[in-house]
Amino acid sequence: MFISRRRFLQQGGFAGAILASQGLSGASRDTHQTGMVKPTLDPNSLAKFVDPIPDPEIAGSISSRPSPTEPHTQIPYYRLEMRQIQQKIHRDMKPTMLWGFGNSSPGPTIEARSGQGILVEWVNALPREHFLPIDHNLHGAEARLPETRAVVHLHGAKAAPESDGYPESWFTPGRSALCHYSNRQEAATLWYHDHAMGINRLNIYAGLLGLYIIRDSAEDSLNLPAGKYEVPLVICDRLFDGDGQLFYPVSGASNAPWVPEVFGNAILVNGKLLPYLEVEPRQYRFRVLNGSNGRFYCFSLSNGQEFHQIGTDQGLLAGPVPLRKMLLGPGERADLVVDFSSHAGEQIVLQNDAFVVMQFRVGASAHIPINAKVAAVLPVKLRTILKTPESEAVKIRPLSINEYHDLAGNSMLMLLNASYWKMPITEKPELNSTEIWSFINTTDDSHPIHLHLVRFQILDRRRFQIFAYRTAGEVKFTGAAILPDPNEAGWKDTVRADPGMVTRIIVRFEGFLGRYVWHCHILEHEDNEMMRPFEVIAAK
Ligand code: C2O
Ligand code: CU
Ligand code: CU
Repeated sequence: MFISRRRFLQQGGFAGAILASQGLSGASRDTHQTGMVKPTLDPNSLAKFVDPIPDPEIAGSISSRPSPTEPHTQIPYYRLEMRQIQQKIHRDMKPTMLWGFGNSSPGPTIEARSGQGILVEWVNALPREHFLPIDHNLHGAEARLPETRAVVHLHGAKAAPESDGYPESWFTPGRSALCHYSNRQEAATLWYHDHAMGINRLNIYAGLLGLYIIRDSAEDSLNLPAGKYEVPLVICDRLFDGDGQLFYPVSGASNAPWVPEVFGNAILVNGKLLPYLEVEPRQYRFRVLNGSNGRFYCFSLSNGQEFHQIGTDQGLLAGPVPLRKMLLGPGERADLVVDFSSHAGEQIVLQNDAFVVMQFRVGASAHIPINAKVAAVLPVKLRTILKTPESEAVKIRPLSINEYHDLAGNSMLMLLNASYWKMPITEKPELNSTEIWSFINTTDDSHPIHLHLVRFQILDRRRFQIFAYRTAGEVKFTGAAILPDPNEAGWKDTVRADPGMVTRIIVRFEGFLGRYVWHCHILEHEDNEMMRPFEVIAAK
């Protein structure tokens, strides 16, 4: 039942969500349908490719302050306010109310250099009332707590625990938090987003996200397309009501609005719906982030053209991977190079299966002579990635992924290792030790599993017998181990744990002692117990 319902949701979008929600029942849920269902906006009714894609602005530091770890060094100080804003999503839509950083969603991009720390003061300047449906039954979102709570996490950062944005370290309007990002890590595309306990899915859906790019000299020396030829593409799916305002679907129960997944039919790129980008017939670098709550994308170009993936979550791959289709789960990043040089005058659409995402308009000629420094062809080798040997692991942790249904077969709850958030910490790796985490996915869905603090490598995925596992707790493999896809064979921080598979990653816990979290990056799951703390402890 759940599989087909989910497929249905994915295909039917909003209409599917409403139909499915009417099936909700069970002791804990009130099946009474309350309120009127507002009509949603059909993006197919809008003119396509009438808005140029906005390039998120680059954040500027406002001063410098002593580094918390090296008091004699002054480091840049940034101050970013979370605010309620009005933003034009499409030429023919009224402005939409969003929550952004500064004046936009996505917020300004923070540019950092490897090894050079910065300070960011994250300010909560949001209104006291939330405008999206809070479910007070969820842990950490109880009715006695303030409605508007926020805390910013820098996804992909090797940050000290007090700067990592622990979900319970939220702060209310009028308050702020100062975070130190030492950037002692290699070049990569990171992103910042809200992480407040129990309402994270709503805060990010409202718009609280942005990019954070770390660069280094190794990457510079490759002369990849840069400047105006390097374009970030932050992709988020949303639903809008007839007034062009954000619509977040609810279950049929007015006192328990949580829904297990949200799939929007409007796919925003850098905060615009169906935008276009004028490009020159030459190579471009696109840093793609899937910032959606729950949607997995399978991207391709309408002309069937090949492109190259050069990087993943934690920076460059060993070499460019040629692709015609690219899968990207929530929270994952892909660094792409697309060569438009033999497509002068063409219009090429970036699509996700049946959905149109955006359009590239290739000009007749390169306006600016191609910089001699920019390699006309991609370097064959981008970086050395040493495989972490399995023999280095001092611990292997089997971690199950579980889903629970109500009497009608609707998904009510998903857990990691059958444990709730509040249960004692079970994952306590020692600092500088290597472990293998083995995600045993007993559900019918793919869950993008993310660990804070660390980068890891994917070892393999292997099909197993779910029934034998559920009944006897025994992993019986039914297929051979499958190596990660070539475009996943680099440093990752988020991994697809596919249904009916055991997905193994190898992780070295470096950097800091202290408490962090690991979770599913489908935000509806994360908010409803699919998140657990872990603690890096001192070696014994
Ligand atoms: Cu992008 Cu804990 O998250
Ligand atoms: Cu993270
Ligand atoms: Cu999940």
